[in-house]
Amino acid sequence: MTTNAGSRDTIEALLREGRRFEPSPQFAAGANAQPGIYAEAESDYLAFWKSWADKLEWSQPYERVLDWNEPFAQWFVGGKLNASVNALDRHVAAGRGGRVAYYYEGEPGDRRAITYEELLRDVCRFANALRSLGVKRGDRVALYMPMIPELPVAMLACARIGAPHSAIFGGFSADSIVDRVNDAQCVAIVTADQGWRRGKHVPLKATVDAALAHTPSIRHCIVARRVGEPVAMRAGRDLWWDDAVAGQATMCEPEPMDSEALLYLLYTSGTTAKPKGIMHTTAGYLTGVTATHDLVFDLKDDDVYWCAADIGWVTGHSYIVYGPLCNGATSIIYEGTPDFPDRDRLWEIVERYKATILYTAPTAIRTFMKWGVDYVRKHDLSSLRVLGSVGEPINPEAWMWYYENVGGGRCPVVDTWWQTETGAIMIAPLPGITTLKPGSATKPFPGVQADVVDEQGNSVPLGGGGYAVLRRPWPSMLRGIYGDPERYKETYWSKFPHMYLAGDGCSRDEEGDYWFMGRIDDVMNVSGHRISTAEVESALVDHAAVAEAAAVGKLDAVTGQAICAFVSLRGMDTGSPALADELRAHVAAKLGKFTMPKYITFTQELPKTRSGKIMRRLLRDIAEGRMLGDTTTLADSSVVTELQERAKQEAAKDA
Ligand code: PRX
Repeated sequence: MTTNAGSRDTIEALLREGRRFEPSPQFAAGANAQPGIYAEAESDYLAFWKSWADKLEWSQPYERVLDWNEPFAQWFVGGKLNASVNALDRHVAAGRGGRVAYYYEGEPGDRRAITYEELLRDVCRFANALRSLGVKRGDRVALYMPMIPELPVAMLACARIGAPHSAIFGGFSADSIVDRVNDAQCVAIVTADQGWRRGKHVPLKATVDAALAHTPSIRHCIVARRVGEPVAMRAGRDLWWDDAVAGQATMCEPEPMDSEALLYLLYTSGTTAKPKGIMHTTAGYLTGVTATHDLVFDLKDDDVYWCAADIGWVTGHSYIVYGPLCNGATSIIYEGTPDFPDRDRLWEIVERYKATILYTAPTAIRTFMKWGVDYVRKHDLSSLRVLGSVGEPINPEAWMWYYENVGGGRCPVVDTWWQTETGAIMIAPLPGITTLKPGSATKPFPGVQADVVDEQGNSVPLGGGGYAVLRRPWPSMLRGIYGDPERYKETYWSKFPHMYLAGDGCSRDEEGDYWFMGRIDDVMNVSGHRISTAEVESALVDHAAVAEAAAVGKLDAVTGQAICAFVSLRGMDTGSPALADELRAHVAAKLGKFTMPKYITFTQELPKTRSGKIMRRLLRDIAEGRMLGDTTTLADSSVVTELQERAKQEAAKDA
């Protein structure tokens, strides 16, 4: 096992966890998933996925379920369909147009209920607007937007005309927009004047303006009005959303898309500084998200479902937009932070809309724990019946707190493991069937074949740990990395033959339940956001004072990991708190605020092997204040003593 010692510590602690929660007989009796489902899916996994694909609306039936030319998959080959038709039109056609698709709650307190009919109309008008600007099938469209209804509208409008969208999380910097837009050669970008965050304005359009100086492929910038303050508009390139849709027809003929047509790109961090444009296509992706959304959350007709993630990440794509809408669900979208105007905002929203399903992240749960249970107790949460967790390992204490205080001890907690690359949930309990264990994502979803393997790729017997892998293709799997098939093969399919490498460490208990331990590669997970060490390092080295930098993740009680940067400066500079702040601001400007290192330790030298490689494992040990393991390969051991001392001082600031 190659995970760092910190992860091993975590896993040992997890394995001592002995609490178990059996499903209640009432829940089990009415659950969407019934016990035969695993065996049935295992007996013919293609037939299982086919049964879900057949619930979609097709304009041309497919010929074959799967063509597998490892590592390239094609699902539901030969079929045609449109994602926006599946999300909207068919519900309206079935007489369910008056059903609420989204309860929208803005941070300042503005509220709207948007029905399927209204959403379809808005999507059609915006799709027509895009078409009239010359955006065609196959063109890529960037979305840099706050959590406003125009964001799902823009996504579905793109899908309607066959133009893949590439959403860029609204916390990213101008430089990050430039990289993503240029990689995908987007022809248009959709943004908003500004966004709301904790009562303050986020300057989205201004950030886009800075980016657009370096993105020659962009012809149009469409700006939704959210905050209403004046922003610069460049004639010929920029136009207001309202003007773009004015006079557009409320019907828009959908493009019949091939099953394998690109639906969207979503960039994610890997082990190099260049983000990977993860490709998701149409039919398989919709099949995966609808099946998992239905079964993992036990979705019922009268549910009010709330995924509190940001649509700018994959969780929002799959479980705010495509999964719930294709399933005809009623969802909540909330724009802002959980502590505005006070720390009970989430619970107030649950109470107001009588939310029945809540899906959030461990980092949020740990924050609520820190704030104290009184904020939760102020509200009536008795409507809740299923709770979900995603984004990072959930520690048993946080799981129990969520289960008891939010779920009142009656709601199953589904800890869902998956990735941008997997498109949909891969390992999670099925409420009503699965015995829950705090801290475990439990079992692979029906039809999914996961495993834990050792360094040689051999399956590790139950009770042991190793690398998490997936052993057969699944419909919502990434189809590749945009423009870089070699990197796709190399990253995911080269370490072990015939296995998809997830990059996570994992162990299984004697009953075959999965316990995830975090990343094994140089990717940090801060508040559920994947951030590559290489990106943070190159942002640091970009500062004139910095000679060399190394970033590592340090275990953090609230955010899972916090970024810890070790920096050596040019000349004889030894650093100062002011310079540390300047470097943080520099990283924020290069990549986005959420990537700012929490700790910065200045050092004359970074610990390196004799061949000059930075010893990250050692740095992680130093950051986390552990006894150091083997340092015999270190070129200069005096570096370490000095670093340990400085890292200790830096960490002491926490207390
Ligand atoms: O390390 C795993 C962690 O998040 C990574 C995927 O991040 P991303 O592509 O940004 O997608 C996040 C939302 C799906 C995984 O490789 N991760 C995600 N969910 C869990 C998790 N780790 C443990 N338990 C989970 N439930």
